[in-house]
Amino acid sequence: MAILKIARMGHPVLKAQAQPVADPKAQKIQQLVRDMIETLEDVGGIGLAAPQVHVSKRVVIFYVPGERRAASGEPAEDIPLTVLINPEIEPLSEEKAAGVEACLSVPDLAGPVPRWTHIRYRALDLHGRMFEREAKGYHARVVQHECDHLDGILYPMRMTDISQLSFVEELRRFGGQHVEED
Ligand code: NI
Repeated sequence: MAILKIARMGHPVLKAQAQPVADPKAQKIQQLVRDMIETLEDVGGIGLAAPQVHVSKRVVIFYVPGERRAASGEPAEDIPLTVLINPEIEPLSEEKAAGVEACLSVPDLAGPVPRWTHIRYRALDLHGRMFEREAKGYHARVVQHECDHLDGILYPMRMTDISQLSFVEELRRFGGQHVEED
C-alpha cells in the first residue's frame, strides 16, 4: 500500500489520452487501485483517476456521499466506493446543468462546469466483469469529471465562462456557493 503523489495541472500525464486496461485482474492494476483508494482516503477527495497519480491507464475511482446526492435532488443513499475500468459514458438527456467543481490536480481553485444531467455509464470492475448504472445530478457530474481525466481534460477546459474560475476560499466568502473538493 502506498499514498501516491498527485499530478497537478501542467504535467503532461494529465493531458494524455490514457490507455485501456487489457486485464483488470492483473496484479499491477489491483495494486494501482488499492493505492488509489488509500491516496483518495488520505486527501479526503470524492474521486481520483489514474492519470492523476501519474499512471496513464483508463481507471477511475469515486464515491458519492448521500448528502451531496440529496443536495442535487437525488435519493440520499451513498454511492459506495466504485472502481471503473475502461469506462464509457452515454448521455441520456440533451440537458446540461452548471455546477461548481474542484479537482485535486487543480489545487485551491473551483469553477462552474456544464455537465449532462442524466447519463448511463458502463465499465469493467476489478474482476473484469462489465456493469452499468444510470446516474443523475451530482453522481453524474462526478463520473463525467473523473472520466474526462482519461481523455486529458481538466474541468477548466469545460468551463464556458473562465472569469468564474475562483479560489475556493474566495468563492466561500463571496460566491455563496457550496464547494465540494473532488
Ligand atoms: Ni479531477
